[in-house]
Amino acid sequence: MQLILTPTAEQASIAAARQIAGTLQGLPHPVLGLATGRTMEGIYAVLAQIHQTENLDFSALTSFNLDEYVGLPPADPRSYHHYMQTRLFQSINANPEYLHVPNGTAPNLDAECAAYEAAIRAAGGIDLQLLGIGDTGHIGFNEPPSAFDTRTRVVTLDEATRQQNAAMFGNDPSAVPTHAITMGVGTILDAKHLLLVATGPAKANILAAALEGPITPDVSASAIRLHARCTIIADEASAAALSPELKDQATRIA
Ligand code: F6R
Repeated sequence: MQLILTPTAEQASIAAARQIAGTLQGLPHPVLGLATGRTMEGIYAVLAQIHQTENLDFSALTSFNLDEYVGLPPADPRSYHHYMQTRLFQSINANPEYLHVPNGTAPNLDAECAAYEAAIRAAGGIDLQLLGIGDTGHIGFNEPPSAFDTRTRVVTLDEATRQQNAAMFGNDPSAVPTHAITMGVGTILDAKHLLLVATGPAKANILAAALEGPITPDVSASAIRLHARCTIIADEASAAALSPELKDQATRIA
């Protein structure tokens, strides 16, 4: 596990975007696992900027998003399809055919999940999986407890997660969909490299639980410590509850 600490959230976004750019430039057919949410907004803004100013090439990119709400069509402004389109995809030169987000309105959701797993395998697996961490310790929408061998499936969202994500739904947690499709913890652990990004004081306790507490299905993000190649980028605010010993081992970016 490699821990990178930055003074600010903005610097964490830049550091994460540079890691992603390195993967894109280093592979002829890069496969990225992508996430949504507030933490990712800054990262995608930096990536779009690097595309514009340095011609970072996305033309060979295949991507798979972690999750999508059940029942929201792609055009719904609250869907993760729409998030990806407006936050990143419309600003880069990727081939839309190779950009995958689970279809939360598929008539047969179990078949959609199985097809998603098959598409990841057919692409040769994920080279770099980008992750945020939720208030419940989830990665993707793997709410506690999520076994470490779970695959892409339909899950019930925790009340805490519906609360966390209510801003997009008129600040009404009851308006947040009750279910989502998510890659499983096992699907995530299959990626060749994991990159978890955390920013802001609200993430401090759950980040410490994930990185220094027990490795348990009750905190899905703790599973990343089982991965041979795992990078965590955290700003000082989200790293506030980490032990001095762990912080001493971190790489610091000024
Ligand atoms: C979203 C996802 C979630 C978020 C997490 C943090 O695709 O996979 O695990 O990364 O809920 O969300 P924010 O960044 O909004 O705090």
